[in-house]
Amino acid sequence: MMLVSFVLLCTIIDGVSCEVCSYQDVLDYLNLTADNSVFKLTRPVLDHTHVTVVKSDIILYAILSVVEKTQTFVPFVWVSVQWQDERISWDPSQFCGITEISVPKDMLWKPDLFIYEMIQKDESPPNPYMIVNHNGTIFYDEDMRVVSTCKMDVHKFPFDTQECSMSIGSAIYCVKEMRIFPFSNSSRATQFSREVMRTQGEWEFLQMSVESSNLSLNDRHWELLTYTVSIKRRPLLHVINFLLPILFFLILDLASFFIADHRGEKLGFKVTVLLAISVLLLILNDILPSMSNKTPLIATYCIVIFALMLLSLLETILVTYLIENDTKDELNLWDKKEDQHLKTKNHSRDKVKRNGCPCICRVCESEKQHELLPVNEEANNSRDSGDANALQLILEELKNLKNMMHHHLGPREERMKSVLWAKRINKCFFVFYVVTVSLFLSFIFLEWYS
Ligand SMILES: *[C@@H]1O[C@H](CO)[C@@H](O)[C@H](O)[C@H]1NC(C)=O
Ligand SMILES: *[C@@H]1O[C@H](CO)[C@@H](O)[C@H](O)[C@H]1NC(C)=O
Ligand SMILES: *[C@@H]1O[C@H](CO)[C@@H](O)[C@H](O)[C@H]1NC(C)=O
Repeated sequence: MMLVSFVLLCTIIDGVSCEVCSYQDVLDYLNLTADNSVFKLTRPVLDHTHVTVVKSDIILYAILSVVEKTQTFVPFVWVSVQWQDERISWDPSQFCGITEISVPKDMLWKPDLFIYEMIQKDESPPNPYMIVNHNGTIFYDEDMRVVSTCKMDVHKFPFDTQECSMSIGSAIYCVKEMRIFPFSNSSRATQFSREVMRTQGEWEFLQMSVESSNLSLNDRHWELLTYTVSIKRRPLLHVINFLLPILFFLILDLASFFIADHRGEKLGFKVTVLLAISVLLLILNDILPSMSNKTPLIATYCIVIFALMLLSLLETILVTYLIENDTKDELNLWDKKEDQHLKTKNHSRDKVKRNGCPCICRVCESEKQHELLPVNEEANNSRDSGDANALQLILEELKNLKNMMHHHLGPREERMKSVLWAKRINKCFFVFYVVTVSLFLSFIFLEWYS
């Protein structure tokens, strides 16, 4: 009596059925138990010619890291898989409208999908359950950290865009047994990834595209779904950390042309700047992979700037050498002049004594006042012949003087020439330097932004 009224009540409320149903009833009906190996062993088809159609999707949650040095791309992804198990079906109306149940993952057969580029096992704990639909559709999803290899082109580093792909496919089932299709097309996958993206770090997610391809080996064909992720580097950090400092050093080097040439200051300054750059080059070594088919532009940038600075350092050394040499020459010359002067003096004195007409001494050695007195006395003795001699001596002395002047003047002009040359070299090099630097910088920035 009690049961009847309960059934009646149920019928009134539900309108469909009034049984109390549990998920276990469905499992009992299917004979799906943990030790029933029938559901696990073989591909879930009733006839072996049937193809299992697997639908899969990869959605990007986060970009954890991208390492150029080791060429690894580490995203966090959500992989969903759906297929049809032909051995499973029930009528929901017999089980109080239960349309789906969740069962532990190891109770049923699963497609052996794996990501080809993955180089490390995922250690995050797997989702324990999967969903079984009443018409036999089985669905499961998995969050995982994929450590994958990705061939990166660092030619345009740090203004580069990388494309990394993840190919999902079956390990053993070939295309005759299993087909694999994407759930959503490229634009849907991109949009969905953008919606759920949590962290991107240094990288900006651009888009994701999916395409199907066949892999063949020894007449066996496997179907692959390839998800290609395009990411763009945010270059700000590298620009601030690397490109700008080098540019600043280059500007400093340019500015050092206005430091005076003589003394070693300019040389010391340039050497310091060059050393600073070489320290920065060490950082580059940490970032970039050693194998790369095309020379990275940033390496060209560094090497050319380094070479230009080296050239300017050499030029400074040359100019300093020229000027230093002159100063030395000048000193030597001064010594020589003194010698010559002394010699000339002695020479004329000898002559004066020999000719017996020392009156000339008044002309050539006015500083030796004490010799004047005897000269005057002797001069009275032979005035006429002395006058002629004196004139001749004056003439000779003048010739000597002229000669000396000529000797002195020659090297001085040369010296001036040498300094002039140094200045000219400096000026030409400065112009060459500025032109080369501006041409090179515009070329490299164009190349970076192309
Ligand atoms: C259920 O499975 C068990 C063993 O796995 C088997 O003995 C039994 O006959 C099956 N029952 C039905 C109704 O298929
Ligand atoms: C099974 O049911 C689900 C949900 O109702 C549906 O998406 C799917 O297409 C169905 N599969 C088949 C083979 O009818
Ligand atoms: C892969 O092979 C299957 C079966 O032969 C074919 O239907 C499909 O078009 C092929 N896919 C590609 C991308 O060639």
